[in-house]
Amino acid sequence: MNAPFDAPPSVPVGTGMSIYDPILIGIDEYGLPVHLPLMYHNILIAGEPGAGKSMLLHNIVGTAALCDDCDLVLIDGKQVDLGLWKDSAAEFVGPDLDHAIHTLERVQGVLDSRNSYLLDQRRQKIERSDGMRPLLLAIDELAYYAATVGTKIEQDYFSALNRDVAARGRAVGVIDVSATQRPSSDIIPTSLRFLFGWRFAGRCVDDSSSDVVLGHGWAGRNYSAAKIDPKNRGEGLLLAEDGIPTRVKGAFLTNANLLRVADYAAAKRRTARDIPPNLRAVA
Ligand SMILES: Nc1ncnc2c1ncn2[C@@H]1O[C@H](COP(=O)(O)OP(=O)(O)O)[C@@H](O)[C@H]1O
Ligand SMILES: [Mg+2]
Repeated sequence: MNAPFDAPPSVPVGTGMSIYDPILIGIDEYGLPVHLPLMYHNILIAGEPGAGKSMLLHNIVGTAALCDDCDLVLIDGKQVDLGLWKDSAAEFVGPDLDHAIHTLERVQGVLDSRNSYLLDQRRQKIERSDGMRPLLLAIDELAYYAATVGTKIEQDYFSALNRDVAARGRAVGVIDVSATQRPSSDIIPTSLRFLFGWRFAGRCVDDSSSDVVLGHGWAGRNYSAAKIDPKNRGEGLLLAEDGIPTRVKGAFLTNANLLRVADYAAAKRRTARDIPPNLRAVA
């Protein structure tokens, strides 16, 4: 009989969670849970500083980190928010525009090869049965890369890459989650906003900023994130491309909660990598 020390590494208990399932992000004004189906979609998150954008990102990225079938690429100009999840990430980028550009170019390579595969298969969209791991690209502080550091050419190139990922990624399982505290038309031009099926407007300073996030005309129809009480952090208007904005209060996790989930997710991913393929419960 094998001594316990000789036992093969055990199959880690997967969470059984999948990125193909909707993600719980908070509650609506009736107190009912709000779930966000992110697979085949992108989400744009914007609002003034302290609106709760990074907390919403934590909910999304944390859930994706726990999913057995999702890889993470995280880009955070401030480092400290998405940085909590870096041990679960295939790639983590801090305040380094070159690194961000190079990383988006690699993601673009994934798009190209997956599209070639689809062309061979004569299909338009990857499915769960293809066995390709969806990839969640999360960018916090988008404006840092798109308008603050580097030259105008580099910034524009970064924005063009992000736009390409948002445009071509959905069908091949690449989900773009971009957050910015500058809801102005130079950071979120209409051409970019249209690529994001989901939009979340945290508190904005005025109606026109709210419209930059949600789309032109919503403030005039009384849906304005400028109406949100500045003290009610985490509240925002969530809009699906085919719906009307709904008030959502994002779920809140303390830093201790976040660390617990982040450490568990990273440990689970590490163990999954260490075990031999024939014993693997998760890919
Ligand atoms: N859903 C929420 N519920 C309660 N408090 C929240 C919520 N989201 C954010 N906050 C509070 O607001 C602060 C700022 O949130 P954060 O997500 O960092 O804002 P942003 O990224 O928009 O600048 C957090 O530290 C937290 O205390
Ligand atoms: Mg933030």
